[in-house]
Amino acid sequence: MSKPSKEVLEGLQKAYCMEVETVVNYLGNALHLEGVRADHIKQSLLSDIQGELGHAQRLGNRIKQLGGSIYGSLSLKFEQKMLQPPSDPTDVVAVIKGVIAAEEDAIAHYERLIELARQHNDYVTENLAVEILEEEETHRQQFQGYLKEYSK
Ligand SMILES: [Fe+2]
Ligand SMILES: [Fe+2]
Repeated sequence: MSKPSKEVLEGLQKAYCMEVETVVNYLGNALHLEGVRADHIKQSLLSDIQGELGHAQRLGNRIKQLGGSIYGSLSLKFEQKMLQPPSDPTDVVAVIKGVIAAEEDAIAHYERLIELARQHNDYVTENLAVEILEEEETHRQQFQGYLKEYSK
């Protein structure tokens, strides 16, 4: 890699932003949900927050290694419409669907970042994106399983 690519850096910053938004919305939904059926999903969301926060940290470290800057809350752009806490706090299925949508957005973004990093011979970013991608695919699979059970 010669000099850090602006495109790769922007891809990392967008990924950082998406991870932080995911933390905010997993926390919000974990707190918001109520009822017998919600318990397992609340616990699952709370434990995933640690994973997503870890992703944000690793992305932030890579941004710094490339000489980029870290955005504060006023510069973060949030857009997870599907993951807003539902008006009915017992609507567990809406939250599960929101999580799957967010994981799918993350998967699509990491696939793009891998391609971008590869084009610029940025192997470290490529490897980081591959590792996070694998975890997002695991999350998606986990919530797709919940959806099968909860939508019976
Ligand atoms: Fe993540
Ligand atoms: Fe995830």
